[in-house]
Amino acid sequence: MELIDALTTNHTSFFREQAHFDFLVQNILSDRNWRGHLRIWSAASSTGEEPYSIAFTARENLGSRSLDIPRILATDISTRVLETARKGMYKADRFQGGVPSWLRKHLLRGENRWEGWYRIRPEISAMVDFRRVNLIDPLPQLGRFGVIFCRNVMIYFSRTTQEKVVKRLAACLEPGGYLFIGHSESLTGIDHGLEQIQPAIYRNRGGHR
Ligand SMILES: C[S@@+](CC[C@H](N)C(=O)[O-])C[C@H]1O[C@@H](n2cnc3c(N)ncnc32)[C@H](O)[C@@H]1O
Repeated sequence: MELIDALTTNHTSFFREQAHFDFLVQNILSDRNWRGHLRIWSAASSTGEEPYSIAFTARENLGSRSLDIPRILATDISTRVLETARKGMYKADRFQGGVPSWLRKHLLRGENRWEGWYRIRPEISAMVDFRRVNLIDPLPQLGRFGVIFCRNVMIYFSRTTQEKVVKRLAACLEPGGYLFIGHSESLTGIDHGLEQIQPAIYRNRGGHR
């Protein structure tokens, strides 16, 4: 595990690559066809900023209607980052430019010795299940997802491994489901069977359910 930690970076941030969160709001959370059964997978979740950003976005746009709230699976190869993610405690400086006012209601502000820290509120963390998964190994049974975020991890894999991983991820997409990759990553030349609909956004062609 330490070797893998040394080879890759765990760098991440809240709402990294904002265009994906805008797309989530405009095209997926607003689509009634996904309501009530949307599952989202953050496939290299690092210290949790990505899955919690997805959860904040969903809460903010769907309110607390429990039937509509998506389930989020967050996985990473590193048990160390998963432990940090599960704790859901972040220093204020993790929120670049400060915590926006709309986000404050989803966070608990630390006091006394926790001054300068924020904790993810339980109703947000309850939306996310964390689990260790190595994307390079054959995947365990995870079910199907409407959206998979697999961002800024494949860049560390060889082309052959990228191809294997993308095919496995594509097989986990619901018909009409979306794969988000990092904006600096590319699937050019990889035979994945998905349709590219925007930079870094791919869709499983097999019609909407
Ligand atoms: C640069 S971070 C990206 C985090 C987040 N997806 C983002 O875009 O901000 C890359 C993460 O991929 C994880 N990782 C590296 N190799 C992996 C593998 N084979 N399977 C699953 N996760 C892996 C690392 O532990 C690290 O947390």
